[in-house]
This record gives sequence, C-alpha cells and structure tokens, in this order.
Amino acid sequence: MKSNTQYPNVMVMDHPLIQHKLSILRDVGTGAKVFRELVKELAMLMAFEATRGFQLTETTVTTPITETTTYVLAGKKVAVIPILRAGLGMVEGILELIPAARVGHVGLYRDPETLQPVEYYCKLPEDIGERDILIVDPMLATGGSAAAAVQFLRERGARSINLLVLIAAPEGIEEVVKNCEDVCIYTCCVDSHLNDHGYIVPGLGDAGDRLFGTK
Ligand code: PRP
Ligand code: URA
Repeated sequence: MKSNTQYPNVMVMDHPLIQHKLSILRDVGTGAKVFRELVKELAMLMAFEATRGFQLTETTVTTPITETTTYVLAGKKVAVIPILRAGLGMVEGILELIPAARVGHVGLYRDPETLQPVEYYCKLPEDIGERDILIVDPMLATGGSAAAAVQFLRERGARSINLLVLIAAPEGIEEVVKNCEDVCIYTCCVDSHLNDHGYIVPGLGDAGDRLFGTK
C-alpha cells in the first residue's frame, strides 16, 4: 500500500492480488456471479490493509504448552456503511474479517442529468460516534455521493471516517479531499478521468448494474 504523494490521506492498494482481481473485475466479459465474488474478495483484502493501524492490547493465553502473553484488538468498534446500492457488494467480505462490526446504510443515487447525489435512506448504528467507520462504495466518480455520505454521517455524530472504494477518479478524490479533509481514502486504483456521462475511464462501467444484473 502506498500513499498518493499528492494527497497524504489517499492510499492506493497496489498489492498484486488486488491488482489481479481488479483486472478481471474491469473486464466487460465478467458476468454478475464472478463480479460479485470479486467485489467481496477485494473488499476483504482492502479491509485487511485499511485496519492495519488498529490498536492492540496485551492479553494472556494458555496454549497446550504454556501460558503466554499475546495481543488482541483493543476493543475496537467498527461500523461498515455501504452507500446503496453498489456498496452492498462490499459488506459481506468485510464482515467475514470483522464479524462484530455493525452495518449502517446510506441510500444515495446519482441523478443521471445533474450527477448530484439524492438521498433516499439512512439508518445507522445508534453509537455511530464511538465507532471507526468504513464507508464502502465500489466507485468514486465525481465524489458527490461519497462527500454527501460523509456529510450525513458527520451530522449524526460520526468522527472517525474512512472511505473504501475499488476505483477512484481524480475528480472524485479532489472533491472528497476538498470537503472532507480528515477522511482517509483507500482505493485499488486511481483511473484516468470521467467521461461526459460521469463514468470513470477506463473504470468498469456501472457497478450497481454489474453487481445486480439490472442491465
Ligand atoms: C454509483 C456508485 C457511487 C456513485 C459514484 O452509484 O456506486 O455511489 O455512483 O458516483 P459519484 O462519485 O459521481 O457520486 P449510483 O448512483 O449509480 O447508484 P446505484 O449504486 O444504486 O447503482
Ligand atoms: N458509477 C458507476 O457505477 N460507475 C462509474 O464509472 C461512475 C459512477
């Protein structure tokens, strides 16, 4: 994992397994079943890296041989917040790694004309302010949806916010960094640019449609 030198809060996950899976994900010939599996696996690998900074505390364990000092997570409370609908595809992989995490949902869609995010649902864990938050969404395009999600969460008391996206456009990174400077962004790749319809180039097309087979 390396930080994007332009933005210290942007981490690009250049692990070979991540890059390999991302290539298959991008392929127009990859069907919904494999696409879903890859999104889940990529989310799990990303969460593995993104939680590297979690604090540990000492404990004592008795092995079959002897008693020893070992380390466990220091009571970390995590919330995974998918941006509906495509973010849903990333939840299961993360829960397999962090089964005690709570899941909140933020429903946003991007108006196809204005490209502005429209909120239609929000349900969060009650103690959201005490949790480390992983907002998940496969795509960071204009950044409007992610910035709006961060704003909703802040209004509801969230403090520690990380954003996990599979592919980011430079425009989206710029937007989130500008509006949410203390949010750490994790991405597998920073792509070239957005096309006239606000799609990431080269990207992978419409993540929600490919996940759920709606087109
Ligand atoms: C996609 C994607 C992000 C958003 C990114 O969702 O999953 O949420 O677009 O675009 P932005 O950075 O320009 O806001 P979409 O609005 O297509 O909804 P869906 O997940 O329901 O398909
Ligand atoms: N939403 C997507 O699903 N894909 C993009 O490229 C941009 C926004």
